[in-house]
Amino acid sequence: MVNISRELQPEPCILVIFGGTGDLARRKLFPALFNLYLEKQLPEQFAVVGIGRRLKDRGEYLESIVASIREFSRKTDPGHCADFLSHVHFFQMDITATESWDRLQEYLLDLDSKYHTQGNQLYYLSVAPQQFIPIVDQLKAHGMNRAAGSWRRLIIEKPFGKDLTSARQLNRKITGAFSESDIFRIDHYLGKGMLQNILVIRFANSVFEDVWNYKYIDHVQIRASEMVGVEDRGAYYDQTGALRDMVQSHLLQSLTLIAMEPPVNLSAEAIRDEKVKVIRSLAPLTPELVRKQVVRGQYAGYRQEKDVNPNSKTETFVAMKLYINNFRWAGVPFYLKTGKKLAERSMEVVVQFKKPPGVHYFGPETQLDPNLLVIKVQPEEGVFFRFNLKNLDSPEQIQPVEMDFCHNCGGKTSPEAYERLLHDAISGDSTLFTRWDEVEYSWRFVDTIAEAWQNSGEEPVIYPAGSWGPAEASELIKRDGRKWVRL
Ligand code: BG6
Repeated sequence: MVNISRELQPEPCILVIFGGTGDLARRKLFPALFNLYLEKQLPEQFAVVGIGRRLKDRGEYLESIVASIREFSRKTDPGHCADFLSHVHFFQMDITATESWDRLQEYLLDLDSKYHTQGNQLYYLSVAPQQFIPIVDQLKAHGMNRAAGSWRRLIIEKPFGKDLTSARQLNRKITGAFSESDIFRIDHYLGKGMLQNILVIRFANSVFEDVWNYKYIDHVQIRASEMVGVEDRGAYYDQTGALRDMVQSHLLQSLTLIAMEPPVNLSAEAIRDEKVKVIRSLAPLTPELVRKQVVRGQYAGYRQEKDVNPNSKTETFVAMKLYINNFRWAGVPFYLKTGKKLAERSMEVVVQFKKPPGVHYFGPETQLDPNLLVIKVQPEEGVFFRFNLKNLDSPEQIQPVEMDFCHNCGGKTSPEAYERLLHDAISGDSTLFTRWDEVEYSWRFVDTIAEAWQNSGEEPVIYPAGSWGPAEASELIKRDGRKWVRL
């Protein structure tokens, strides 16, 4: 097996989680840290401090972490839990009170000498977006953003702004406090193993890269469906919608991996240089094109969800067709689709090749199926390839056959996205995090769609919960003589 891991190693540090009692910390961050701990992927000298508003003693906090590991961790080795917890602490503070920050600084200093973390600190902003700027301001005001001879890094959760203007404002703040190489903007889809695998599929196999262009590829589909609705995030979601929540980040990032040019090497900068070119090359959508090429849906019952405006026009579903204006992808449509309360949970990237020219050999009646390459990101992780063979039982027929590789079908679990991302941030590797220019160009593209919707005053189309989404999404692709591929 060839090792593609990078040179960087996790370094001694204190991880400070703002929002340490929140949902993300409970469901994702602590289970991920525990798995990294079990796999010896954390530095020996490390401490984690969960920050919360309400007073809790450490014992109570640790109990809640044990419960979250039991419920959400892929491994639950009870023998090692106590060792892991000996690194975890709780700090109660009100982020608006200067006095709390003085106490926090002293507290971290103490922990630093106890755990020999060499002054390195990683701040994780797992809080509501309106708290991002106040926290960064305080870190800067207290000089916690820099330390001679040590590093200070910032991990910032989604959403990075709600449009280009607010994203720029946020970016100005954080780059005024941390340098770009110390800022880790999360898009957790980049931590998903099969999305990272796109680069290996493309660049470690000679069969694909030569045909990876407009001459051989008919179209690409990138789809992320969820069965859940907005659950208890109605207040956030109603201000956000699927376009900003999923398309601006996860779907466009997936698109960059499929469409980018080969980077000069596998460094973070080289990869991100190529990714951003894809986003910059997206063909702009005029209001007229938005009307034709973008479907906006809302599941029935959404307006009755908790914390949602009863007249809300927020979309819970988006399907769209877009083009990349460059030489490789000229004229190749990319269809993106995402939604909540759909019939299944899945994320897949489908690459459909053009039909072979040899149809005349087999008679005009023959309908040859096009070759399909499907990268299955979740819940199944694997790769599916379809090609045509002569049917050995009835030799005059040609039939499509499949090769289907599934990594996790035998009950095997892969590392969670957050394991990889936390590990990389602790190691200083920003490859799987989005650089500012990627975020900026994504917002430019998405803002034109959001503005067109707002100006049109049209309502989203309502689709039944548990369905495959609005009929208009099927029409969108059917009009081009294609269909959403279902395996
Ligand atoms: C988040 C979105 O970024 O991704 C959520 O804010 C969405 O609305 C989630 O549910 C989907 O992530 P995953 O990993 O479950 O596909």
